[in-house]
Amino acid sequence: MSEEILEVKERKLKVSDMAENLIGSEIITLAWQINEMIANGKKISNLTIGDFDPKIFTIPSELKDEIKKAYDENQTNYPPADGTHELRRVVSSFLSKRLGLDYGMDEILITSGARPVIFAAYNTMVDVNDTVIFPVPSWNNNHYTHLTRAKAITVETKPENNFMPTAADLEPHIKKANLISLCSPLNPTGTVFKRDEINDICDLILNENNRRGENEKPVYLLFDQIYWLLTMGETKHYNPVVISPEMRNYTVFVDGISKAFAATGVRVGWGYGPKSIIDKMKSITSHMGAWAPKAEQVAVSRYLGNDELVDSYLENYKSEIIKRLDGFYYGFKKLKDEGFNVDAIEPQASIFMTVYINLIGKKKSDGSVIKTTKDITNFLIDDAMLALVPFSSFGASNDSVWYRISVGTCGISEIELVIQNLRTALSKLS
Ligand SMILES: Cc1ncc(COP(=O)(O)O)c(C=O)c1O
Repeated sequence: MSEEILEVKERKLKVSDMAENLIGSEIITLAWQINEMIANGKKISNLTIGDFDPKIFTIPSELKDEIKKAYDENQTNYPPADGTHELRRVVSSFLSKRLGLDYGMDEILITSGARPVIFAAYNTMVDVNDTVIFPVPSWNNNHYTHLTRAKAITVETKPENNFMPTAADLEPHIKKANLISLCSPLNPTGTVFKRDEINDICDLILNENNRRGENEKPVYLLFDQIYWLLTMGETKHYNPVVISPEMRNYTVFVDGISKAFAATGVRVGWGYGPKSIIDKMKSITSHMGAWAPKAEQVAVSRYLGNDELVDSYLENYKSEIIKRLDGFYYGFKKLKDEGFNVDAIEPQASIFMTVYINLIGKKKSDGSVIKTTKDITNFLIDDAMLALVPFSSFGASNDSVWYRISVGTCGISEIELVIQNLRTALSKLS
């Protein structure tokens, strides 16, 4: 006997205001749109996404071997909620050796990449309707603020400060702040805080917390240093707790292997901070089930404990990144010298760099005039076959003509091609 399948009319469902108004990642959306154009036969250099092409940037081969080995050992059950004992021990010693940071194993939380650390930190330190201050351009703070149902105060940073926020930028808002979220080396700019700049921000936070006293929630600092191993040349990475030890009470760090070892898909990250905060974050991530896979944790603990392997990987990996960043930097400077209205900020760290492409008012060969940043972005894609993310996608104002170049998917031969295509397209403007 056959049963008739009833067709159920799809009902438009109401969801929470938070979910209704949450926007996905603008960068991932743009990157996929470009990938689709490429799949349809268009030739575009896609330098949008902050990820790696694993054929160009592979994870350390010893880490890969350790991951396979851990699966062969059947390391496939639930890991402890805060991460395996061994990985927390190795991370603790890594931080102490390389950064001078003293965090015990119960002050470290291992998660599936760094994102759950950020989500849990926001939810631990920020209440509904609290205020989060963050600089723009910056990565995803707008979304985490929204997910926490908090209010955002954004501070637009300036090219003359390498797009890093200063204490003076933050000061007008400090009394309202519950959390300040900072990142260095910064995504999207590839620039870092100088020692004095962090020191002044720490003073601002400490003064405000002394004023508030013990019965009021302090201003916390979320300090995302996931790119700290990727500094270039003379650039030094500084962190607030080494510079100003009292900041230890108020700081939660975001960190992990995703960027430092080209391992975005391996999903092992960690946060560290005061034990009372890390404990709460652990409860949140364990309810989310956001622990890193057990075998990957076992493998990372075995790999990260081997200084020689780590150093030799980083030496080669960083030199490949620098080649690309320098290639674009000098390429843009050359275009500037040739009279085009472009510029670049010298790359300091990470896999990103900042370029300026101001074509407002220029006339294209079809007679149309470039009027907005969106027009510039589209001109780059259509005429220069180059896809970059505008800083407006990182919260900067819509008329910003600054862009991020990401080199994680870029082959060496692509650099000259990008610069030449850009030169050709720019030459056709009047
Ligand atoms: C500044 C920053 N923090 C954190 C992350 C997230 O890292 P993960 O992939 O480990 O979640 C990213 C990824 O793009 C990032 O740019």
